[in-house]
Amino acid sequence: MNTKLHSLLDFKKEILILSIILGSVISTYSQTISIKGNEFYVDSKRIWLNGVNTPWNVWNDFGGKFDYNWWNNHFQILKNNGINCSRIWFSCDGNGAVKTDSKGVTGMSETFFKDCDSLFAIAKRTGIYIDATMMSFDHCKSPNVAFQNWRNIITDKKASLTYINNYLVPFVNRYKENPYLFAIDLCNEPEWISEDAKDGKLPVKSLQQFFGLCAAAVHSNSIIPVTIGSACIKWNSDNQGYAGNYWKDAALEAASGDPKAYLDFYCIHYYGWIHKYFKSPFEMSPAEYGINDKPVIIEESPGKDSGLKEIPMTLVQAFESAFLKGYQGNMPWTSNGVDENGDITTVGVATLAFKNNHPELVYPPVAPTALNSCPKSCSGESFWNVVQSRRSVRKFKPDSIPEKDIRKILDAARMAPTSGNQQPWKFLVIRDRNKINQMKEACIGQALGYYNEQNEQKETKEEFTNRVKKVFEDYCSAPVYIIVLTDNNSMYPDYNHWDGPLAAGYLMLAARALGYGTVFITDAISDKITKEVFKIPDTYTRVCITPLGIPYEWPKTPPKKELEEFIINEKF
Ligand SMILES: Cc1cc2nc3c(=O)[nH]c(=O)nc-3n(C[C@H](O)[C@H](O)[C@H](O)COP(=O)(O)O)c2cc1C
Repeated sequence: MNTKLHSLLDFKKEILILSIILGSVISTYSQTISIKGNEFYVDSKRIWLNGVNTPWNVWNDFGGKFDYNWWNNHFQILKNNGINCSRIWFSCDGNGAVKTDSKGVTGMSETFFKDCDSLFAIAKRTGIYIDATMMSFDHCKSPNVAFQNWRNIITDKKASLTYINNYLVPFVNRYKENPYLFAIDLCNEPEWISEDAKDGKLPVKSLQQFFGLCAAAVHSNSIIPVTIGSACIKWNSDNQGYAGNYWKDAALEAASGDPKAYLDFYCIHYYGWIHKYFKSPFEMSPAEYGINDKPVIIEESPGKDSGLKEIPMTLVQAFESAFLKGYQGNMPWTSNGVDENGDITTVGVATLAFKNNHPELVYPPVAPTALNSCPKSCSGESFWNVVQSRRSVRKFKPDSIPEKDIRKILDAARMAPTSGNQQPWKFLVIRDRNKINQMKEACIGQALGYYNEQNEQKETKEEFTNRVKKVFEDYCSAPVYIIVLTDNNSMYPDYNHWDGPLAAGYLMLAARALGYGTVFITDAISDKITKEVFKIPDTYTRVCITPLGIPYEWPKTPPKKELEEFIINEKF
């Protein structure tokens, strides 16, 4: 095969790959909430959940009567009231989108995910986090039509797995990359299922097994924090006189047998009836309740002043007190007046006051950096995350790269192994936009020359020209290019072809660890062009050229062969 044809075919192949990849990319993210100690953070900035419950607009909205305009409008109202998080019930009683029979969950209604897609798009656009409540004690309540199916799902492990595999995990996987999916709240007030005859009076152990399995499944599939909306501190505290902390790590792990069965933070609910037994979280800190091993949110509480009469405190004071006592958020019931507890006219006064008093805690000023542009699943710098999530990136944001990051990346590259430790490399770093544009024009010119050589000219010349221009606009959109070279006069030049790509591999992983994208480019930007534009002496051989920049979007992982296909144990 002649070299030119080789280039052309590779070029065509890469365009194909590019178009496939660009067709299936997911968006980039910058606002993922993570947990450090007992607090929540966005990037390195603390965030406090100035929240609210918007549990439903109409009962079982999703996959039922989802009203896009209502939710869209309501999220804007939340935003206008300084609210940064809303708790939403994705299945209110199991009579909507989640289909069941006596063996468990059989599937989802066709429109469920479509409706959820709309909601998550609204959340992302308005910048409001979603605390996603997946089910409620209501599911098990008699005479709910499917109550027995739901009780089976909790008590029978086989049925539990159908819930996990057909509903919970698909939901998690679909939205885990959206930074505005703040948390999975496994269940609203599950304790009623063991307390109340109408809800089944199921054994606490069954609840712990079921929610333990659910928590483990979420942890196995994502880094989304998991919680449970506990009806009352009575069931969430080991203090004397309380029923015990049903949801502590040891209890969930023991019941489910899975070490990934734990909550990432606690959610407690408070209403006036609780006061005479256990006081309120507006007076008692997480440490006083003995639940300061994780962050704690007051996930439900009265949404108007008169609901707080036992304390007594106004809602404005309650928010401030929750903050000072060490809770990581307060989410009154509700923003939309689903009952007599309150609505945005009563809650909004308090959320706005809190936002005005603590603007940076409610909307942390997070600058766009390379690392916080990474998808949620691969944010973080752990070695395994970096290896799993490095991708070939072919379109970049124009943001410049701090020199210290460039140096750090090259410093990693020089640590690669080499034959006889010869270290035969040079890293040519290009930041000059004029030179990069010159390279781009040369690439476009070269590619256009291949038009006549195409056997099947399915495109007109104009279409081909536009496509080529677009491809190279993207390839050349990074602020920095690094050309990895080996010195032909090195100590062991015959080994350069092994040493060179190793440095490039290290470089690409190091870039990924800092949140930057790269791509090992060979033919798409030809050796000849880089040699000419950057005047590279003939005594050097190019290993590759890679752009370095913040990805415009992080591509999805292309198909990778199974590990087993690579392993030969002992002999062929
Ligand atoms: C030796 C080699 C040559 C490559 N040449 C090009 C190229 O010329 N243009 C390009 O866009 N990608 C090029 N790539 C990147 C691959 O297309 C990419 O690694 C592959 O599709 C797998 O995607 P991933 O890196 O995201 O896992 C090259 C990769 C290697 C290792």
